[in-house]
Amino acid sequence: MIVKKDVPQPEELLLVPGVKTVVKLGTINGLKREPQIEILAGNKTETIHKENKCYYKLDVAKVMWSKGNSTERMRIAQLVEDNEVVVDMFAGIGYFSIPIARHSKPSKVYSIEINPVSYNYLCENIKLNRVEDIIKPILGNCKDLCPSVNADRVLMGYIGDTHDYLEKAIKILNKDGIIHYHESVPDKIKFKRPIQRIKEAAQDNEVNILNRRVIKKYSPGVCHVVIDAEIC
Ligand SMILES: C[S@@+](CC[C@H](N)C(=O)[O-])C[C@H]1O[C@@H](n2cnc3c(N)ncnc32)[C@H](O)[C@@H]1O
Repeated sequence: MIVKKDVPQPEELLLVPGVKTVVKLGTINGLKREPQIEILAGNKTETIHKENKCYYKLDVAKVMWSKGNSTERMRIAQLVEDNEVVVDMFAGIGYFSIPIARHSKPSKVYSIEINPVSYNYLCENIKLNRVEDIIKPILGNCKDLCPSVNADRVLMGYIGDTHDYLEKAIKILNKDGIIHYHESVPDKIKFKRPIQRIKEAAQDNEVNILNRRVIKKYSPGVCHVVIDAEIC
């Protein structure tokens, strides 16, 4: 191993005030988005991350954190209008639900999460950010558990087989409601395929594409995109 002289080594980083552990983040696997990590120094992997005036408690050894999505987290929070009902189908520890509840004025956010570890952090984060009156956490599969509410906005912040959940999302959406649909997609068809999938799932309903964004590079030749679509 070549050790560059001026680059601080993990053990040295522990001397920086506030740094107790140094980890190397690896891949994130499976439906429950469980991370692979390597602990380089220290041993405490539970932390509280502060971002945009929101607090996120999590154990980086057990649940994922995507630092590349911070702009998207704040963008979505700023789009939510007063009194909207929002359904977050893949809530995780509250990546989107918490900033929405902190920075906007929805009437309710239903946050559904399948991974019990992430769900428990979601519940802790709701308390930590004092948004108990706004967010209702639900443990389970959003395919089965989507509440029988009429949503003004549905967040689909998951990449994998997200398109399999489009029908469900559209079913619970009010007329002229908005979905934020995420997909990992080859660069060459980066907006074409997700938009096509949304239109197919919407069947006879008119679809207005309000925005399309590349969130980040996912792997070589593949990007993570989000499409904002109004279903009329
Ligand atoms: C990728 S994470 C959320 C990432 C987040 N959107 C971000 O930007 O950082 C997606 C979450 O969806 C959860 N999940 C996956 N399939 C699910 C399902 N069918 N129902 C509910 N939650 C699900 C996973 O456990 C995971 O916590």
